Amino acid sequence: MEGKRLSIWVLAACMAVLAPGLQSEFQGNFVFDKYWMHRANEAREAAFEAYRDKPEEATKVLNEDVDKGLEETEMNNTRRELRGKIYRGCMAKNPIDRCWRCKKNWNDQRKRLANCALGFGKKTRGGAKGKHYVVHDAWDGDLMNPRPGTLRHAVIQKEPLWIIFAKSMVINLKQELLIASHKTIDGRGANVHIAYGAGLTIQFAKNVIIHGLYIHDIVSKPGGYIRDSVEHAGFRTRSDGDGISIFGSSLVWLDHLSMRNCADGLIDVIEGSTAVTISNCHFTHHYDVMLLGAHDHNDMDSIMQVTVAFNHFDKGLEQRMPRCRWGFFHVVNNDYTHWMMYAIGGSSSPTILSQGNRFIAPHNTSAKEITHREKSTPAEWNKWTWKSQGDMMGNGAFFVESGPPIKKMPKKKYIIKAKPASTIVKLTRFAGVLKCRSNKKC
Ligand SMILES: *[C@@H]1O[C@H](CO)[C@@H](O)[C@H](O)[C@H]1NC(C)=O
Ligand SMILES: *[C@@H]1O[C@H](CO)[C@@H](O)[C@H](O)[C@H]1NC(C)=O
Repeated sequence: MEGKRLSIWVLAACMAVLAPGLQSEFQGNFVFDKYWMHRANEAREAAFEAYRDKPEEATKVLNEDVDKGLEETEMNNTRRELRGKIYRGCMAKNPIDRCWRCKKNWNDQRKRLANCALGFGKKTRGGAKGKHYVVHDAWDGDLMNPRPGTLRHAVIQKEPLWIIFAKSMVINLKQELLIASHKTIDGRGANVHIAYGAGLTIQFAKNVIIHGLYIHDIVSKPGGYIRDSVEHAGFRTRSDGDGISIFGSSLVWLDHLSMRNCADGLIDVIEGSTAVTISNCHFTHHYDVMLLGAHDHNDMDSIMQVTVAFNHFDKGLEQRMPRCRWGFFHVVNNDYTHWMMYAIGGSSSPTILSQGNRFIAPHNTSAKEITHREKSTPAEWNKWTWKSQGDMMGNGAFFVESGPPIKKMPKKKYIIKAKPASTIVKLTRFAGVLKCRSNKKC
């Protein structure tokens, strides 16, 4: 979807100044009417609020570098595994999972998950303050008046909701699913596939958790009238076929998703979005994996802060894991076992901190470089701060660092402390959808 849309903020500002009487304006792939103008302004304030924290001195945050020691539980686990015994304890191997997976009663206390985000999306609570909403109907046949019990009916509600599924299902979305603020979509306990139709869109919204879904084979859809909240429906043009599109939104946590083979990107985070964590996901079979910032000509994404942690970038991936612009990107403890062109790329002077990842290069001798700079000369990109610390390189992989040391870091509480890359297989072993059963540790 890159480059296809005008800057929303610029447009909003121009419309506010120049055309106060204008009721609606066709923009991007939706009609930018009064309702969306209001939502855009609210979302922008929320994004600045999420970003507001003052940076800290880098030394305070980084002098510990990559955590050298293994935690006690991991040492115990290692020994057990070495002894070849079936391990019956908690299988959670990273700090996000350890927050909830070891409890047998996850099913009775699903909202415990809302306190488990780490990284820039740490404060995301999703629908923790709301009721449970049980989806029992996979049908998506009425975009203007979705019927109760469907996912589309759940996500357009005004109040916070913790959305769960009564049974396993394949949801074929007729058009994009427009998710309103303060929602958790929690697929634990069922096999929920969003597939063969449109994808998920979080536009001018905040505070959304998406956990435990299979999202694949998403296709472009022609658009039309779609209800985006209980009080508004509007016209949207063609959707690009992204798995998840995060547009002008903040506080979003994507966790334990299995994603593959979408028509456009698997995940887009664009148009001034920030405070986002993408963790524990399993990505396969896709060309452009993750786009974080879509414009070179406009710096609205300089507030963008995204954490990419504990993910497994697996078979059949080509490039953009992620592809970054402007903001601050913490890529920590991911396992990169497959890419065809490059792993981490960018333009427009993004700051990229890569820590404790494992990078295994492809056999192609021209594709060993992990990093890829676009639309710039070495003189330019040498000013961009891209750093690799404690990353493990395999099969000739190499990371080309650039720029001055990071001087100002985001607050320490938003920085996941990297574990040694040597533990990466354990840290990411459960990437993707978990098989959770009631009254069993997940
Ligand atoms: C790990 O092993 C040590 C030594 O055997 C033991 O004292 C400790 O309680 C174990 N920790 C866990 C979490 O099992
Ligand atoms: C090897 O990588 C280069 C650079 O990404 C690419 O242009 C080329 O097509 C690749 N070759 C094969 C055989 O995939």
